[in-house]
Amino acid sequence: MKGLTIALLWAGLTGTAAWGDDFISEFEYGQMLYQNPRGVSCAPCHGDHGEGALIARYREEGKNVELRGPDIRGTDLETLRHAVSTGKGVMPRYFLTDEEIRALYTYIRQSKKPEDAGE
Ligand code: HEC
Repeated sequence: MKGLTIALLWAGLTGTAAWGDDFISEFEYGQMLYQNPRGVSCAPCHGDHGEGALIARYREEGKNVELRGPDIRGTDLETLRHAVSTGKGVMPRYFLTDEEIRALYTYIRQSKKPEDAGE
């Protein structure tokens, strides 16, 4: 009986965290990675749903300059793979597996801002 309890506990602990079991979908896994990849979150620079965001505002040679993370909702898999693997401008480089990049892609393509959800 004790052995069974431990086995169930173990399955519970490992199962919820493991992608591949049906506990979380690829979309949810992608969302998790988007919010908290191994490195800096994508969200402050690209918005919670990939819609883009203002990163910083500064003055350069007397002019106001805005640094923005682009809208990446329409990005294709190859562009995404290239951007995260090499970094671009202020964007850091990430070391993610192909599976992780695909999950991120699923999230970026399917995620909707609450105000778009009615479409
Ligand atoms: C520190 C801010 C920052 C972070 C963090 C960041 N990005 Fe970026 N990202 C940028 C900026 C700025 C660009 C535009 C760079 C350029 O065009 O020179 C960019 C470009 C991209 C592009 C390429 C768009 C195109 O059409 O070329 C993709 C895709 C992308 N980011 C996805 C991601 C994902 C996914 C993450 C998280 C794993 C992430 N970025 C994290 C700032 C960031």
